[in-house]
Parts: sequence; structure tokens; C-alpha cells
Amino acid sequence: MGSGTFTLVLTLALVACVTPAERKCQLSGLWRNELDSLMEISAVKDDGDFQGKYLTRVTLAGSCARTSPLKGAQQQPSEGGWPTFAFTVRWDKFSNTTTAFTGQCFVDAAGKEMLTTTWLLREAVGSLEEDWKATRVGRNVFTRKHTPKEKILPILSPSCEDVSLP
Ligand code: BTN
Repeated sequence: MGSGTFTLVLTLALVACVTPAERKCQLSGLWRNELDSLMEISAVKDDGDFQGKYLTRVTLAGSCARTSPLKGAQQQPSEGGWPTFAFTVRWDKFSNTTTAFTGQCFVDAAGKEMLTTTWLLREAVGSLEEDWKATRVGRNVFTRKHTPKEKILPILSPSCEDVSLP
């Protein structure tokens, strides 16, 4: 067996020995979902709190989205395993809605990280009678977007121009 083949076999054997819990899930970084929305999560603090930025590609009104702040918390199971988390996004730069996401981080057998989330999107309505129609629910799956650090800021800058009111 050549040394290249030996190294490959050894690497595969080591990867196979790593249990799922050992394939760590890190929330920090740049993520993209199936709607092509992007979010950047900053470093997760020791107490689990984190912040970030979210750029949605879809909006209720079809209007131009602005990069919006997100705030969340991660819970790392004490017995190991993959963390659960929740975060909220305030869309107040272009909408009167708020979204709460909750989910879990996973790493598949090939080492691909994935955030599976369920969200509730709350719209402000004018009266209690309209409360029944004010909340939407859905699912988003995020995968990591590998991008050099210096390119993240331009990517998170909305493509649509500021519309200045007359
Ligand atoms: C609005 O249009 O009022 C705010 C934008 C809402 C975007 C939603 S949040 C859930 C879903 N996932 C996304 O990435 N975008 C949409």
C-alpha cells in the first residue's frame, strides 16, 4: 500500500471513529437558507448569547429588505450532542414585523453543518379582531456559506437602493 493510500485509509478510519457528538456544531459564521436569505452569527458568548445580522431575500410586501439585527441564545446539552438555539429578528428598518426562529444545529456524516429551524413571523395588526391572522409559521434549513471574511459585509449589503421619500 502506498503512503498516500495509507494516509487516506487512516483518515477515513479516524473520521468513522468520531461520534456525532464529537463533530462539533458552531453557530458562528455565515449561513444561507433555501430562500437564499443570509445570516451572519457573531461569536457565541460563554453564556450562550449571540448576535448577528440577517438579510432576507423575501418580504411580505415585496419591498426592499434592509439588513436586520438578530439576537439569540444557544443551549449546549450538558451530556454532549448538538446545540439547540433560538433567535429573534427585528425587521424594523423596513417592516412592522418580528420573527422568532428556534432550531438545532446538526452535522451530517459527510461533515456538512445544518441549522434546521421553525419560525413564527408576527405582523402588527390594527385591532384585536385581526389577531387571528397575524402570525405565520414556517421552516427554514440553513447551510454554511464559506466566504472570506472581507467579502461578508458586501454580501450582507442589500442589493436594492435606498428609496428616498419626496
Ligand atoms: C417582512 O417582510 O415583514 C419581514 C421579512 C420576513 C422574512 C421571512 S422571516 C421567515 C422567512 N425566512 C426568511 O429567510 N425570510 C422569511
